[in-house]
Amino acid sequence: MFQGDTTNNELTVHDIKQQPVPNHVAIIMDGNGRWAQKRALPRIAGHHEGMKVVRKITKLANSLGIKVLTLYAFSTENWKRPKTEVDFLMKLPVEYLNTYLPELIEENVQVRVMGNLDALPAHTIQAVEQAIIKTSMNDGLTLNFALNYGSRDEILNAVKHIANDVREGILQDEQINEESFSSYLMTKNIPDPDLLIRTSGEIRLSNFLLWQLAYAEFWFTDVYWPDFREQHLLQAIDDFQKRGRRFGGV
Ligand code: IPE
Ligand code: IPE
Ligand code: MG
Repeated sequence: MFQGDTTNNELTVHDIKQQPVPNHVAIIMDGNGRWAQKRALPRIAGHHEGMKVVRKITKLANSLGIKVLTLYAFSTENWKRPKTEVDFLMKLPVEYLNTYLPELIEENVQVRVMGNLDALPAHTIQAVEQAIIKTSMNDGLTLNFALNYGSRDEILNAVKHIANDVREGILQDEQINEESFSSYLMTKNIPDPDLLIRTSGEIRLSNFLLWQLAYAEFWFTDVYWPDFREQHLLQAIDDFQKRGRRFGGV
């Protein structure tokens, strides 16, 4: 189902807060390249514009009282892109945090990152680690970046750790259940997403949170990420609030 036509009824934060908001919203921020292409700009211009949208959407999520906002920023498959594009993407967290970290601190946002950080350039790791440390005392919105993240990679790592812990007697076979398995994932201590949003018209998960999205509500829009606005997030949550989540019950 495609949504995103928000020309009619403008929603407000006040409207949305009349009903429970999702605890955890996850977003596949897609379409930066096509946004740029449409304007005859280099793909990286789309990534740069997308960064400004991250700022806006984070502010809104925080004011809505959403607890966790997980943003897919770079997948384990995105290394296949041209080196110049990958290099630019790896510099974006540095620019984003240099520009907006003071604001994030002030707004009580906690920054977190999940993914294989070891493979990232030193400047990227350094920027992210600084942000994590400097926002660790905050207890508002958790802004969780998926950076060099791949769900299959995450699940395989969890299985390897579990096998190791069983071998060493730290974990018993009968203790392997959904709850303990989840604690071996990169999202440990983070509730599963309630709402998944993907922009740009693609209807797939692209290796994002395969375990954690088991019962999430999905919301897709044709809008490219650099064109995504507050009104789109409000619309997604309004639609979410109208859905009947049954979790297999009646
Ligand atoms: C999403 O936009 C950002 C990343 C994957 C890093 P894309 O770069 O995938 O944009 P399109 O899908 O090519 O338009
Ligand atoms: C998913 O988008 C990854 C991110 C948004 C970071 P892609 O653009 O990489 O996904 P595919 O290749 O279209 O599946
Ligand atoms: Mg894409």
